[in-house]
Amino acid sequence: MRLLTAAQMRELDQRTIEAMGIPGIVLMENAGRTTYQILRQEFPELDDPVVVLAGRGNNGGDGFVVARYLANAGREVIVLLLAERDQVQGDARINLDILEQLSVLVYEITSEEELREQVPLLQSAGLLIDALLGTGLASEVRGLYRLAIDILNAMLAPVLAIDIPSGLSADTGQPQGAAVVADVTVTYGWPKLGQILPPGRDLVGRLWQVDISIPPSLAEISGVTLADPAQLRLALPHRRRDSHKGNFGHLLVVAGSVGKTGAATLTGEGALRVGAGLVTVGIPASLNAILEMKLTEAMTMPLAEAEGVAALGRRALEEIAAAVPGKTALAVGPGLGTHHETVTLVRELVRRSTLPLVVDADGLNALAHDVESVFASQAPIVLTPHPGEMSRILKCSTKEVQDNRLYVALEVAEKTGAVVVLKGAQSIVADPNGRAMINTTGNPALAQGGSGDVLTGMIGGFLAQKVDPFQAACLAVYLHGLTADVLAASHGTCGILAGELLLELPEVINAFALGNLPKTEEQPCYRLVIS
Ligand SMILES: NC(=O)c1ccc[n+]([C@@H]2O[C@H](COP(=O)([O-])OP(=O)(O)OC[C@H]3O[C@@H](n4cnc5c(N)ncnc54)[C@H](OP(=O)(O)O)[C@@H]3O)[C@@H](O)[C@H]2O)c1
Repeated sequence: MRLLTAAQMRELDQRTIEAMGIPGIVLMENAGRTTYQILRQEFPELDDPVVVLAGRGNNGGDGFVVARYLANAGREVIVLLLAERDQVQGDARINLDILEQLSVLVYEITSEEELREQVPLLQSAGLLIDALLGTGLASEVRGLYRLAIDILNAMLAPVLAIDIPSGLSADTGQPQGAAVVADVTVTYGWPKLGQILPPGRDLVGRLWQVDISIPPSLAEISGVTLADPAQLRLALPHRRRDSHKGNFGHLLVVAGSVGKTGAATLTGEGALRVGAGLVTVGIPASLNAILEMKLTEAMTMPLAEAEGVAALGRRALEEIAAAVPGKTALAVGPGLGTHHETVTLVRELVRRSTLPLVVDADGLNALAHDVESVFASQAPIVLTPHPGEMSRILKCSTKEVQDNRLYVALEVAEKTGAVVVLKGAQSIVADPNGRAMINTTGNPALAQGGSGDVLTGMIGGFLAQKVDPFQAACLAVYLHGLTADVLAASHGTCGILAGELLLELPEVINAFALGNLPKTEEQPCYRLVIS
C-alpha cells in the first residue's frame, strides 16, 4: 500500500479534478458518503447528538457532507463552524448552504468564549467528528483551532477524524503543537505517511482508507509503501524440486572477536535459515575452534588477527580476497569489535568488494567516519544501522534520527548509494532512488542482543541467493518481525532468545510462502470495500 505526503495528495486531487474531469464536489461527496458508511459500521449503537467541529477549508466541507447524511438518516446533528460562514468557500460552501436548506443547526464560533460556551454540548455528544484541519495544515496549529483540539481531547465521547486528526502532520506523524487523539480516522485515497509513522500511528485510532474516485495509478507518485506480504512473497527464492545447495548461493560472513562468537554464530545460522546453500564464517583464528564447536552446518575460516588480540587484523584482507571466488555475497560486521586494524580491514573490504554485501554493527561503526568508502564501492551494499549507529553516521542525536526516521533513512541511502535498513519499531528500508518500505511486523521481543545478528544473516542469506538488495532487505526485515510476532503470540514479548527466532523461521517462511500468514498483528489500515 502506497503512503503519501500532503503535497502528493494535493497533487492527486488536482490531477483528478483537472486531468480526469472529476469535479471537486464529487470527490467531497464521495469522501463524506464513505465516511458516513464507516461511521455507521464503527458506531452502530450511536447516541445523539453528533457534533461536527468544522474548519473553513475542504476538511470542514467533508464534515458538512457527513452531517447531511446523518441528518437525512434522522440523527440529531449539530455543526460547530470555527469560522464565519462567509469565510467558507468553493465546494465546502456549497455543502454548508445545503445544510442550511436542511435546517441543520450550524453555530459560527469566532472567539474562545463562544467555543467554551459549547463545552456542555460537546459533553453531551454521543460522537464527535473532527473536521477542523486536514492535509491543509501548514504550520503549528494557531488560534481557535488550538483550543478546539484541547477541548476535543478532554471529552469522553469517541472521536472520528476526517482524513487526519487535526493538528497531526501528514508528512512526519508529529503533532504540530497539538493534535486530536482520534478513535477512528477515515482517510481519503491513500493513507498519509504521518498516519503510519510514530507517534501519528497512535493518534489515528483505527485507520480506514476509502476510495473517493482518484485513479489508483496516480498513487505511483509515491515511492513509499507499507510492507505488503503479497508483493514480498514474489521475491522469495523459488526452491525447485531438482535443486541442490549450489543453487542457493554461498555467503561469506566476516564477524566475531573475543566475547562475540555468538554474533558470528547467529549471523551464519540466520543465513542458513533463509535457505542459503552454503555459509562460511570467517573469524579471528584463535576463536576458530570455538566456532567449529558452535556451528555444525556452516563452515568456518580462521583469519589473521591483529597483534596480540582476538580481533581481525589487516592481514586478513588478502585471506578474505582469496576466499571470495565461489562466494555470492558477504556479511560483514557482527561482533567484530573496534580494534583499529579491524576498522581498516572493514573499510578496505567495503571499497574492494565486488560481491553484494550487508554491513552491520561494528562494520557500520568502522564506516561511520568514512561513508565515502560505501559510495566508492562497486558492490551493491545494504547497511543495517539501529538509531544509535545511524546517529554516528549522520553525526546527530539519536532523538533527531527517531523524530525523522523515514527521511533520515532516505537521506543516508541517497548519500551512500546503499540500501539502508533503519532498525527499530517499524523498521524502514530505503534505497538511493527514493523508494522506501515501512515495516509492519515485529515487537519488543526483538529488543534483545542477537536479534540484529540474525537479521544480518537473513539479509546476507537472501543476497547470496541473488535476491535484489532492496527486496532482500525488505523480505528479511518483514520475516524477522513476523517470526517475533508468532513467538510473541504464544510466549509474550519478554525473554525470547535470538536463537529461538532461528528455530521458528522455517515454519514462518513456509506459511508465508504458501500465503497462510499467521494472524498476529492488528492491521495498520483497513480498506472499505465498495461492492
Ligand atoms: N476535492 C475535495 O473536495 C477533497 C478531496 C480530497 C480531500 N479533501 C479534504 O480536504 C482537506 C484539505 O483541504 P484544504 O486544502 O482546504 O485544507 P484544510 O485541511 O481544510 O485546512 C485549510 C484550513 O486550515 C487553516 N489552517 C492551515 N494551517 C493552519 C494552522 N497551522 N493553524 C490554524 N489553521 C490553519 C487554513 O487557514 P487559512 O486559510 O487562514 O490559512 C484553512 O482555513 C483534506 O484533508 C480532506 O479532508 C477534499
